[in-house]
Parts: sequence; C-alpha cells; structure tokens
Amino acid sequence: MSDPATKADIAKSAAAKHAAALVKDGMKIGLGTGSTAAWLIKHLADRQRQENLRFTGVPTSLQTADLATAEGLMLTTLDQAKWLDLTIDGTDEFDEDLSLVKGGGGALLREKIVATASDRMVVIADDTKRVSTLGAFPLPVEVVGFGLSTTLMLLEEMLEGLDVTGNKAIPRMVGDDLFFTDEGHHIIDLHLGRIGDARQLSLVLNQVPGVVENGLFVDICDLVITGYADGTTSERGIETVAPLRAEENNVFKDLTDA
Ligand code: A5P
Repeated sequence: MSDPATKADIAKSAAAKHAAALVKDGMKIGLGTGSTAAWLIKHLADRQRQENLRFTGVPTSLQTADLATAEGLMLTTLDQAKWLDLTIDGTDEFDEDLSLVKGGGGALLREKIVATASDRMVVIADDTKRVSTLGAFPLPVEVVGFGLSTTLMLLEEMLEGLDVTGNKAIPRMVGDDLFFTDEGHHIIDLHLGRIGDARQLSLVLNQVPGVVENGLFVDICDLVITGYADGTTSERGIETVAPLRAEENNVFKDLTDA
C-alpha cells in the first residue's frame, strides 16, 4: 500500500499506526477487516521489517488474510491460537460508550468472534465514525439463507416495538446476486436511523431464529483510537466511560419487575 493520498487515508493511517505501536513481541493479534484495518496491516508489516517485531495474526476475513499474507505477516487460525492478546479492527460507527456498529464490509461474525476471544479490543477509526447516537449507518445482520424472506419480515415486525426510528430491512446485494459472507451466510442491512438502546436491540435481534449474529458490539471494545486529517490521533478508553448504574445495565429488568 502506498502513502496516504486523501485526508481520510491520512486519518485512517494515523489511527492504524498508533494501534500498531501497541503490539509487542510474541503477541497473538486479531486482525480486523476494512480499509482502516488495511492500514494496520501495512504498519505492522513496517514494524516487522524495521524492528524485527515477531507476532502472529488471526485474520477476521479472507480479504484480510490475503492482504496480510501479501505483506509477509505470520498468520494462524483462531482454533490454533485459542485466545488472543489483542484485536485491532475498524468500525462503521462508535459512540461515547464505545458501542460499535460493524459489518459494513460483511465480516461482522468473524470480527465479533475474534474480538470476543481477545484480552483487549482496540478500534481504529477516522473521526467521521464518531456519533452521538448509533444507527445512521445501516446495521448489518448476518442471516442464514434458509427462509431469508421470512427472517426479513420478522426483523421488520420486531423492530416496530423497539427504540429505533426506522425498520426497513434490505438484503445486501452484489449486482443482481445476494452477498455471501465468508461463512456462506447473507447480510440484511437494517435502516434504523437511530438506535436508542444498543444492548437491548442486540439481544433481541439474536432471538430471531434465522439470525446468526448482528453488527452491534456492546461491551466488547476497550479503546478507540481516532485519527484526524492532520495526522494526529486521540484515545478514548473504557476507563473514561462512566459505568452504567446496575439498574440501567440489567437487560432483564422487565422480567424481574413485579
Ligand atoms: C467489516 O465488516 C467492518 O466491520 C469494518 O470494520 C468496517 O466496515 C470499517 O471499515 P472501514 O475501515 O473500511 O471504514
């Protein structure tokens, strides 16, 4: 990959370089997917060449595996690694609680499995990804092919009762064909406008039988590194996020109310 050409690339590259500096010798690293993660791979490859840094990567997509292999990174599978020190990945949106919308690149399932199997998840993003409320970016939901239309209908019906502004569910296409994920599933993009309660929505979405996983990452990300067009970066860590009161944090409180 060449030097950053656009302001967006400068921001993404700056965030990725900051995160690449967190990698230490011997670590097992989850490698995210997308254009920002591609900058990460470039900066990790630079450190490998210049500092002889040794680490093993677990890619979250075939696309990332190809990029990392081309850059000479050593890769393994999550099954081999079992548990990772750190995952570094991009995002489509993040809010002040470090909740994320991911899956614009269609890799949300492997991304969530890998991030959850890591001591720490660090997100890298340009500052256009920061939002006060999640939901402007369509929320990707990975679904099985069987009964796709029924799943779509159930999702739209279910959304009517939730704290969102829209409920349009649209299957992701590539030309005239349905998009396939690396796991052989499809994606339905939910056009919600605004997500009032990400934690509740994530739990409810995964109750629909045809749903494999959704693109909301709640309580998974530990640190967001934001890059700016002037090449500077900032950090927002989980320790700066005010803990929710136990009552607000209890997603089952409706069931336990008398
Ligand atoms: C991939 O499925 C996504 O979760 C990406 O992490 C997300 O779309 C960010 O991609 P960019 O870095 O290209 O914006």
